[in-house]
Amino acid sequence: MRRCDRLYFLVADPLVGQWLRELNPTAESLEGFYAEGKDRTKTYDQIARTLVQATTSGLTVCAVFYGHPGCFVQASHLAIRRLRRLGYPAEMKPGISADACLYADLGINPGDIGMQHYEASDFLLRRRKVDPTAGLLLWQVGVLGRSISLAAPADPAKMALLVAKLKKSYPAGHAVVIYYAATFPGDPYSATAVPLSRLATTEIMPAALVYLKPAYQREDDPRMYKALVVAEAPGSPH
Ligand SMILES: C[S@@+](CC[C@H](N)C(=O)[O-])C[C@H]1O[C@@H](n2cnc3c(N)ncnc32)[C@H](O)[C@@H]1O
Repeated sequence: MRRCDRLYFLVADPLVGQWLRELNPTAESLEGFYAEGKDRTKTYDQIARTLVQATTSGLTVCAVFYGHPGCFVQASHLAIRRLRRLGYPAEMKPGISADACLYADLGINPGDIGMQHYEASDFLLRRRKVDPTAGLLLWQVGVLGRSISLAAPADPAKMALLVAKLKKSYPAGHAVVIYYAATFPGDPYSATAVPLSRLATTEIMPAALVYLKPAYQREDDPRMYKALVVAEAPGSPH
């Protein structure tokens, strides 16, 4: 970030932008590409073009996206793909995503329970399937059905559509956790559980992750157990 010729950023807090400008005076926000009513895919394309143009003009470019730069961020992947096609050695460095914070704060091991991740609008628009024996993380619920991120909570009418879909797989009283990771060291996280039946009228801001723990026991498959585990046991004929 310090050494690049041009630093771009898309971050969640103005203080972070200020810190980046102190690190590198070329730092420039990409937020101006977002606008009310503007198609998000156009914004992502314009951000990617900006990064590609700066690079092809001969500059060493670094783009900073909050959390993990490749987790629920399209512009970063788009820019890297385009640059690699043009022969530039573009690469992404991992960061700490909101779900990584949730695992730590709420003591959840996705390896134990299995975890499904969906972008909330995509979850509804594309008939995504749910497995209620695994965990479910819904991203961008606060901007459900909206083309941009406003500093306003999710629309209750749109939330009702999400609740109706979830009720097909989960009991109405199932606890849904609205989680906000801390964004600065020392800040607390916030996690509030509400019954699914009350989710539509609960305030959900754009920076929330919505988590549903498994509602039912996983099913054992004895035939698979025999083929996979018993076959490996010491003394087995295999
Ligand atoms: C465009 S995505 C960016 C995610 C980010 N790149 C990451 O790795 O966490 C924005 C979505 O991430 C989730 N998110 C962002 N900040 C969060 C926070 N502080 N706590 C919980 N979820 C957050 C929300 O679901 C939000 O709608």
